[in-house]
Amino acid sequence: MSNLESLSKPLTLRCGAVIKNRIGKSAMSEALGTVDNRPTELLVKLYDAWAKGGTGLVITGNVMVDRLALGEPGNVAIEDERDLSLLQRWAQAGSRDDTQLWVQLNHPGKQSPNMVSKQPVAPSAIPLEPRFSSYFNPPRELSPGDIEAVIERFATAAAVVKKAGFTGVQIHGAHGYLVSQFLSPHHNQRKDQWGGSLENRARFVMEIYKAIRQQVGDEYPVSIKLNSADFQRGGFTEEESMTVVEMLDQAGMDLIEISGGTYEAPEMTGKNVKASTKEREAYFMEYAENIRSRVKTALMVTGGFRTAQGMVDAIEGGATDMIGLARPLAVEPDFSARLLSGATQSIDVKPRITGIKAIDDMAMMETVWYARQLERIAKGKTPKPNESPFLVFLRQMLRSGVKGFRTQRLRAN
Ligand SMILES: Cc1cc2nc3c(=O)[nH]c(=O)nc-3n(C[C@H](O)[C@H](O)[C@H](O)COP(=O)(O)O)c2cc1C
Repeated sequence: MSNLESLSKPLTLRCGAVIKNRIGKSAMSEALGTVDNRPTELLVKLYDAWAKGGTGLVITGNVMVDRLALGEPGNVAIEDERDLSLLQRWAQAGSRDDTQLWVQLNHPGKQSPNMVSKQPVAPSAIPLEPRFSSYFNPPRELSPGDIEAVIERFATAAAVVKKAGFTGVQIHGAHGYLVSQFLSPHHNQRKDQWGGSLENRARFVMEIYKAIRQQVGDEYPVSIKLNSADFQRGGFTEEESMTVVEMLDQAGMDLIEISGGTYEAPEMTGKNVKASTKEREAYFMEYAENIRSRVKTALMVTGGFRTAQGMVDAIEGGATDMIGLARPLAVEPDFSARLLSGATQSIDVKPRITGIKAIDDMAMMETVWYARQLERIAKGKTPKPNESPFLVFLRQMLRSGVKGFRTQRLRAN
């Protein structure tokens, strides 16, 4: 049996906060907010279940900093203190048993579907690839004033998150959303101080970090989820990503979560990973091994972990401090507790496809299926690991139609 002790050891972050073990729940968008993007009791219940499940660090699904810029309907947005009391209930339930509960803050930029954004914004007026044109309108270029305003929004949201009692905050800097768009030389072709050199492209994320830190102080965990690469021609490369990790480390970031990919190249789901990588379970381990000795900040690698042995090897190998899990915790919210106690050794996360080509080609069956399990947990039911993807598809169709199906979850987040 693998040496589970290395997974059970607490981790002290540079801000002084302690994560009670090495398992982190990576963000999964719940889409359980109200039609006007306010939190609900369903979120309180869902995070209560995860906190009871033994995971040391729980990161919420992406919460938007602007209700006019959504990734999908049902996102929660935090712009001010209007929902403070419900946020407090959410924070309290999800941080029981010394669970670290961090809110992931996001702005989708151009990855905001046309059913929610008539004209999304982006660093440059460059649309997504033509195959996305029915679902995403071409973006408008942000003015320098708009950029400052978005940075301010991240800081304001972080202050509310802290006041509500969440124990940390994470910037969504991965998966092709606005921060990731700024980092990419393909999506960011600005000629001002926000584009061009890597230093200029990284200015947006560095300013967001500084603005958040100013609001929350030095003793509060601030994290980022960052792409190891965009996997797109002309996009953000692995070497550039490592330089940005160094910049964030020097600035004082507490934890950097490594992922990769965008809507255009969804590597975060493991869709295109090489067989040799799959053998090692985690999709982005090699990147972590390369960056580890260059930075002091804590690292969390997310994507593909399924066995106790794979997780122990990754921690003992020294390349990562935390193991990030998403899909496993949607089907077994107490998977971490069971794994750490030795009650289980692994989890089988199989592809969620209907077998009907036309539907599966829509590609987003997976996310819809997992979100359905989150809804079940939130309603006090147990997840259904064998629930038919076809029935989940039909259910979603009845709710929102084909366009809704594709755009609501046209994401691998
Ligand atoms: C239903 C669902 C929603 C997701 N939402 C987000 C999100 O809001 N923010 C984010 O950074 N990643 C999101 N992801 C990606 C996961 O955090 C994770 O990077 C990915 O699923 C790979 O990890 P896994 O192999 O353990 O599932 C989502 C994934 C799923 C399945």
